[in-house]
Amino acid sequence: MKVSVFGIGYVGCVTAACLAREGHDVIGVDVDPFKVAALNEGRSPFFEPGLGELIGEMVAAGRLRATVDDADAVQNTDIALICVGTPTNSNGTIRLDYLKHVFESVAKHVRLKDDYFVVALRSTVLPNAIEQDLIPLLERHSGKRVDREVGFVYNPEFLREGVALKDFHDAPWTIIGSSDSRASDTVAALYQSLSAPLVRTNPKTAVLVKYFSNTFHALKVAFGNEVSYLCREMGVDSVEAMDIFCQDTKLNISPRYLKPGFAFGGSCLPKDVKALISEAAKRGLHLPILEAILPSNDFHLRNCIQMVAETGKRRIGLVGLTFKEGTDDLRESPAVELTERLIGKGFDVKIYEPSIAPGSLHGSNLSFIEKSIPHIWKLLVRGLDEVFLHADVVVTMQQVRSEDRPMFMTMKAKQICIDLARTLGPTEVSGEYRTVDNDQRETVLVNSSAS
Ligand SMILES: NC(=O)c1ccc[n+]([C@@H]2O[C@H](COP(=O)([O-])OP(=O)(O)OC[C@H]3O[C@@H](n4cnc5c(N)ncnc54)[C@H](O)[C@@H]3O)[C@@H](O)[C@H]2O)c1
Repeated sequence: MKVSVFGIGYVGCVTAACLAREGHDVIGVDVDPFKVAALNEGRSPFFEPGLGELIGEMVAAGRLRATVDDADAVQNTDIALICVGTPTNSNGTIRLDYLKHVFESVAKHVRLKDDYFVVALRSTVLPNAIEQDLIPLLERHSGKRVDREVGFVYNPEFLREGVALKDFHDAPWTIIGSSDSRASDTVAALYQSLSAPLVRTNPKTAVLVKYFSNTFHALKVAFGNEVSYLCREMGVDSVEAMDIFCQDTKLNISPRYLKPGFAFGGSCLPKDVKALISEAAKRGLHLPILEAILPSNDFHLRNCIQMVAETGKRRIGLVGLTFKEGTDDLRESPAVELTERLIGKGFDVKIYEPSIAPGSLHGSNLSFIEKSIPHIWKLLVRGLDEVFLHADVVVTMQQVRSEDRPMFMTMKAKQICIDLARTLGPTEVSGEYRTVDNDQRETVLVNSSAS
């Protein structure tokens, strides 16, 4: 394919050289004449292991050249990859001026082209900027409608400097964010020789996956560093401790606990987080990430309660009371907390918990629940049918058992199902289906005490 790459900085240069190696004809474009000259002379404008050699080979093979002329690039290619910088302003927002300039210029040249053209954005930028600034610029200056006459794709880059060539070739995935299949197919064809799995989604999701990835990497670094302070205070080798920690690929380094759902609870997680924080405090250590975990969990719980309250309905059916499915342990269950707060606010609540039958609880479990919800036995029902008979709003707080799932198709259309546990899907519920992220509220609670 014939490809132009706008911005031959770290991302653009690596992308241009690697795509040329995959057999494409590539034109790099930059406003910096030094970078353009370096590339045309077969050199890398900056140091990246292996890049200079690759650029030399590709320029010599006639598959890679550079220009400062946007018209030359757009007229002689079928797709433009936009890789210009999006640096940070002093208030943390991102600077869009480089991107806006490129979009406007590319669009003006696309206006003069008869052939179908695709603009693929690789720079890191938030969804609003794409929707409110970049796509309108592309449409206005090209005179063409995005998704009909000109293609737009968000195609995030995940390479790391220092190992960029390897990362390009051995990427975890290639993400193509577009609502236009013709544009997606064009970008997919660009990467077809690479082994990375192709993931197609919409542009917004693609953008957020890029941001979440980097934020998660940052969180991992910060977590590792915070626990190392505790290790040092306690005379433990943090490297050895984290090496052992990372050997658990079932729970620690795995997709477990990363799916959006209800708040966490139980007899271990809250207790152990509290114990570590108070041990750290005793030693004069301030660990901001660890200290933020329980407030974050409570924030989520309050949001869920607010969501139920905002339905305006009073008759509530709760599904799942234990701290997770498959156990009768109620201690520190966020579902108990939610139930307690709803009852406190005067809601008329019935609860279905398949793991608990009257008389089946003993010891600390029994005393905990009787203290938290004194009339618990009057509120418990024996099946989902009783929940549906009672409730205007049904709230799932844990995974619904497979044998109970079909029952949700017996809900009435006017009944609302709030799937806090994200256990069902809209097609499995005959009532109105809501989750925390399809709730229509305009504002999210910050620092609000809904309890
Ligand atoms: N560097 C990384 O490791 C990395 C990894 C993934 C994603 N990203 C993202 O990719 C984007 C680019 O990052 P980078 O590190 O390559 O930036 P960079 O600053 O190294 O390169 C940007 C290039 O764009 C050029 N440019 C600016 N305006 C231009 C215009 N109008 N026309 C043509 N070229 C123009 C600049 O001269 C520069 O060479 C950023 O959004 C960044 O967040 C970077």
